[in-house]
Amino acid sequence: MKVGVIGAGTMGSGIAQTFAQCPDVEKVYLCDIKEEFAERGKGKIKKALDKRVARGKMTQEEVDQILGKITTGLNTICIDPDLIVEASIEDMESKKNVFRELQYQIVRNPKCIYATNSSSLSITEIGAGLPSPCIGMHFFNPAPAMKLVEVIAGINTYQKTVDRIKKISEMLGKTPVQVDEAPGFVVNRILIPMINEAIFVYSEGIAKIRDIDIAMKLGCNHPMGPLELGDYIGLDIVLAILETIYHDTGDSKYRPAPLLRKMVRGNKLGVKSGVGFYDYA
Ligand code: CAA
Repeated sequence: MKVGVIGAGTMGSGIAQTFAQCPDVEKVYLCDIKEEFAERGKGKIKKALDKRVARGKMTQEEVDQILGKITTGLNTICIDPDLIVEASIEDMESKKNVFRELQYQIVRNPKCIYATNSSSLSITEIGAGLPSPCIGMHFFNPAPAMKLVEVIAGINTYQKTVDRIKKISEMLGKTPVQVDEAPGFVVNRILIPMINEAIFVYSEGIAKIRDIDIAMKLGCNHPMGPLELGDYIGLDIVLAILETIYHDTGDSKYRPAPLLRKMVRGNKLGVKSGVGFYDYA
């Protein structure tokens, strides 16, 4: 199968890598709004794969084969994919435009499935009014390593599309979980308020950053503490997900911590900006 991945950021490049590593995938189009952004995404994949070679987990031949499947460019190269996975910015209007352009102007395969990796936006609204309704195919960071895919059905999503995406997720070596559209789906509805609560705990002076993370790592066996994980996901993403859940439910338990807002305003976004709760410079 051929797959188009829209957006070559952290998630888009991880998703493109995941597909390219699958023997049943012959081609991956990795796209972004500028060719150089897409090339940078492929560069990130090369770096991740080179690490696997250095660790003796992959051969150079395998790396060359995986990279050889990935073509980078603008969205306009997605002429014949069987599946599109959109992983661009978490903004409703922008996502709607991407799918409109793909469905009306670019993709020529009438059977193409349109999926979004959105972490909390309405799947129904993203695909509203389009010839092919969308489906949520939500990967977790780092996409090549994390085993879960949330498969999210909007109100117009066809059951056959849900079944197909579940099959494709299994083909990638992932475990799919079917979810009805709801703000934050399952994982982020539970995970993001936990990170927000950890920020409140820190803001209230109850414990230090490192101690909050140690407490949750050792007390709950989490691989990362909540503040470290917030930095890893990106605090702007954490805030955007909270805003969506808070807005859609109207429930004050999802109100973002003021410190989270302040950090995002000050570009302290975590790993990607070089500083968040920890320093990555
Ligand atoms: N790309 C590809 N593979 C990666 C990777 C990356 N960026 N980072 C780690 N891996 C792979 C490694 O290659 C390694 O694979 P092998 O076992 O086959 O060698 C495996 O993952 C473990 O990695 P490491 O040994 O380097 O490091 P680790 O054991 O400390 O694990 C981690 C790193 C997987 C990130 C782990 O700390 C972890 O699971 N953290 C929690 C991550 C998490 O919760 N993610 C979900 C975030 S929420 C989200 O994504 C949804 C959203 O919408 C916001």
